[in-house]
Amino acid sequence: MGSHHHTPYRRLGIATAVLILTVALSLHSTSAQQEPLRPLKAPPDLAATEVALGRELFHDPMLSRDGSVSCASCHPLSQGGSDNLKVSIGIGGAKGSVNAPTVFNTIFNIAQFWDGRATTLEQQVDGPLQNPVEMDANWPDIIGRLRASSYEGRFQQVYGAPPSPQLVRRAMANFERSLVTVQSRFDRWLGGQDGALDAEEKKGYALFKSYGCASCHQGTNVGGNLFQKLGFFGNWFKDRGGPVTQADLGRFNVTGRPADKHVFKVPSLRLVVLTPPYFHDGSVTSLADAIRVMGRYQLGRDIPDADIALIARFLASLTPETLPATP
Ligand code: HEC
Ligand code: HEC
Repeated sequence: MGSHHHTPYRRLGIATAVLILTVALSLHSTSAQQEPLRPLKAPPDLAATEVALGRELFHDPMLSRDGSVSCASCHPLSQGGSDNLKVSIGIGGAKGSVNAPTVFNTIFNIAQFWDGRATTLEQQVDGPLQNPVEMDANWPDIIGRLRASSYEGRFQQVYGAPPSPQLVRRAMANFERSLVTVQSRFDRWLGGQDGALDAEEKKGYALFKSYGCASCHQGTNVGGNLFQKLGFFGNWFKDRGGPVTQADLGRFNVTGRPADKHVFKVPSLRLVVLTPPYFHDGSVTSLADAIRVMGRYQLGRDIPDADIALIARFLASLTPETLPATP
């Protein structure tokens, strides 16, 4: 798993790291080989029958205690895999403590959840199923219901075995692995199709690199591969106002290390235009304001509105016109 405190960034201090990266990026040529962002790769070969089973389970409220909530309730695929609420609403209208991230492209994350507490997609499944403010179920009940339904035969067909916690996790995780948003205009541009981006989007990408955003939001998923602190410059939590919640402590809740207070998985920006509101606490409504916050608290810069608009244009080009697995 990512141990951010061992990375050179951490040792140098992020400001120095950003400076070095910025200089490095401006020195080299723009050949796609050397870009800090990489195109998404099509998902690995997955058995179609297994993906179909996982898709059905993902959309089935039967998995929740009272049959009212499915994974898709909070991760509607046609909305970019996130519910667009500040914090999610689970069983009986219960409110969660953090904003729901997208389920697209999660295959590329170093770990799942804002604090990275699940190492694999299989492991992640147990969280929402058993969380009392999400689906509030337990494995014996879930397996009992599945075995008494047509799923008994479906699992036999796909796996040659009856429903079990392990196979439910496997089907769901492999379905999620199929959710890769290939063929965005930005990826086509990276692949050499110059006309895939307009002049403003290209400028926005250049600014994304020169301000230093790509020192944290990088790689295939434009994020998802590092843990970083929210608030290198100034105190975001004080300025946000309201009590500092347990969820605000981020990765500290997993490791218990004081240095991990307010450290979060750097989120992927692949579908960011579709998934407001922003940040783990859902506290920022507009993408422009989220970019402004990042400039101020992660980079110590006040980014002018014109540049914010260009960066937002670039970020929109990361989302393809059609999302996979949506009707
Ligand atoms: C009540 C709303 C709700 C339901 C139901 C729900 N989720 Fe989530 N999901 C969330 C929230 C909120 C988070 C972030 C939690 C955190 O980071 O602590 C999340 C996080 C995730 C993540 C991690 C994404 C990332 O980038 O870290 C995955 C994957 C995921 N959910 C899949 C599922 C699956 C599979 C199900 C069904 C078994 C499900 N969710 C049910 C709200 C929900
Ligand atoms: C030092 C690392 C770092 C840098 C530099 C950085 N970010 Fe972030 N970014 C993060 C982290 C960590 C989060 C998650 C914070 C949270 O939710 O608590 C985040 C969240 C975001 C979000 C919200 C995504 C969501 O789904 O909620 C956006 C948008 C964003 N960053 C854009 C940018 C832009 C644009 C820049 C450059 C101006 C930038 N970031 C620079 C680490 C960084």
